[in-house]
Amino acid sequence: MTGSYPNTRLRRTRAAGWSRKLHRENTLAPADLIWPLFVTEGEGVEQPIDTLPGVSRWSVDGIVSKAEEAIALGIPVVALFPNTQADRRSDDGAEAHNPDNLMCRAIRAIKDECGDAIGVLTDVALDPYTSHGQDGLLNDDGYVVNDDTIAVLVDQAINQAEAGADIIAPSDMMDGRIHAIRMALEMGGHHNVQIMSYAAKYASAFYGPFRDAVGSGGLLKGDKKSYQMDPGNGEEALREVALDISEGADSVMVKPGLAYLDIVRRVKDRFEIPVFAYQVSGEYAMIEAAAAAGAGDRNALVLETLLAFKRAGCSGILTYHAPLAARLLKEGSDD
Ligand code: PBG
Repeated sequence: MTGSYPNTRLRRTRAAGWSRKLHRENTLAPADLIWPLFVTEGEGVEQPIDTLPGVSRWSVDGIVSKAEEAIALGIPVVALFPNTQADRRSDDGAEAHNPDNLMCRAIRAIKDECGDAIGVLTDVALDPYTSHGQDGLLNDDGYVVNDDTIAVLVDQAINQAEAGADIIAPSDMMDGRIHAIRMALEMGGHHNVQIMSYAAKYASAFYGPFRDAVGSGGLLKGDKKSYQMDPGNGEEALREVALDISEGADSVMVKPGLAYLDIVRRVKDRFEIPVFAYQVSGEYAMIEAAAAAGAGDRNALVLETLLAFKRAGCSGILTYHAPLAARLLKEGSDD
């Protein structure tokens, strides 16, 4: 009965590529991407990460090259994570506020070389620096304590800002840290340093490869369920976001990504603030495993999943696939 339903033929606009492009509601661009990078000691060092095939830790010189690559690809921000040497980790994570730690050296090197051509986002949490792999300080019962941890996080954030960080991203999930960090930044004269809060961060099974990458996985006993959110909760994410906004966050993040796009949409609908999401290490590994097994086309999987974040309401996405996606977008492979 071809032609019987002229007003309901939704497929009409899908028939040609030019028309699909014209009618596309959401698009993906290199400027939507934030590229997480792992830093390690040494010079000329590249250490591939087994559980993150295609991702390596780089020494500071290599990190600068990656930042230059990001600029060439149109990626506006890199996110840095240090693999701190074992002998620099301690119960109190004091290396986090050492002005000459690996993180600060990497920030300074990028800023010296690239200036404002790229933004540097830095993670605030103690897990890369603690001997126990938790994001905060422990009491005698092994419970991660809130307020004492915040005092160290503030020192860590100021240390990063002084090294030149552009966006401070607290991923620790303590309560009240956004206010404390914002106040300290203001008092330190860092008025234009932004805070992107990991506001709704879930206690997820998708972080495994990341913990290998920063070297905290083997150290971690137990889990992070006493401070990261329960995957069963949605409403609570809105309360977390509301608090972080009231405390001074410039933007908020939902993490992990794909399994939590409903949260992204709810946050976007409720609050007028830029929302970001982190397509985390386990998600990257899943796509790579699917591609390696011949279960899907890597490039297509990457672009489709990243576009889904935009559709859900994200302003941008942290993803280890950032350079691949940016390259594909530049080549126009998203048709
Ligand atoms: C640390 C932190 C984690 C990630 C980002 N910051 C891991 C964790 O909370 O254990 C995960 C990122 C990823 O899996 O790619 N606070």
